[in-house]
Amino acid sequence: MTTDQTLEPTEAATAAASGASATERFAADKSPFEAVKDTSPERVDRLAKRVLNAVYDTIREEKVSYDEYNALKAWLIQVGKDGEWPLFLDVWVEHEIEKVATEHREGNKGTIEGPYYVPNAPEQGANGTIPMRDGEAGTPLTWTGKITSTDGTPLDGAKVELWHADADGFYSQFAPGIPEWNLRGTFTVGADGAFEIHTIQPAPYQIPTDGSCGKLIAAAGWHAWRPAHLHVKVSAPGHELLTAQLYFPGDEHNDDDIASAVKPELVLAPVTNDDGSVSVDYGFVLDPVRG
Ligand code: DHB
Ligand code: FE
Repeated sequence: MTTDQTLEPTEAATAAASGASATERFAADKSPFEAVKDTSPERVDRLAKRVLNAVYDTIREEKVSYDEYNALKAWLIQVGKDGEWPLFLDVWVEHEIEKVATEHREGNKGTIEGPYYVPNAPEQGANGTIPMRDGEAGTPLTWTGKITSTDGTPLDGAKVELWHADADGFYSQFAPGIPEWNLRGTFTVGADGAFEIHTIQPAPYQIPTDGSCGKLIAAAGWHAWRPAHLHVKVSAPGHELLTAQLYFPGDEHNDDDIASAVKPELVLAPVTNDDGSVSVDYGFVLDPVRG
């Protein structure tokens, strides 16, 4: 497992470093193949042909040249070398997978996970402060909420796993020099389903621009920004896992998120207190597992 401790201090928060971390973590998890081991050849054939046909259509309709084909080949090879497949897929593909996966839900639907989740963040109870450095930069944020089932019952023992970037837009364990569990915590609620979380407001986040994804962004004239966001996984026994992100009103990238992950229902309604800190109330409704 790569942590910030194994990165040299001279290694800045480069695309290659955060990409390598994200790839290494994903590759260490054997379950992606296990989960689809019973997929029929018909399904694989159908999906592979549909994707390839979409590529052939683009080539024919856009008269893609050999030079463009070779540039694509070189770029794809480089994405792998940079370890940027998790970043690429989570920014440009995951949002549609998430919509399909959650469209049946009556409770919260959620949004993309992104590449920077780490399980088993330290437990803080129902009312606690996320691990942070002394004098952690950023506006203090108090977040209260309740976790219920779709019938309104509070979910005793439900968990909010929260992770987010710091005020410079960096995630612990994916950028050097940040304590391992900084701005990562697990909050477990009691019988009333209520939580109160103390943290800081994260900064807008720019996906790494010095690697292959950055090269695509520059070549296409796009920007690399995601709006500031809090990541959560909300879970409870007998209920579907909710993976979501929460956003802050007025962020200029809420309307043009590079990862297309903002939904109106995920934008918070915070209030600024007299001391400059921010308070917000936002709860979650989980769907019981069907069948
Ligand atoms: C990426 C980073 C994020 O923090 C996120 O939420 C989604 C995607 C990325 O760099 O790919
Ligand atoms: Fe993120």
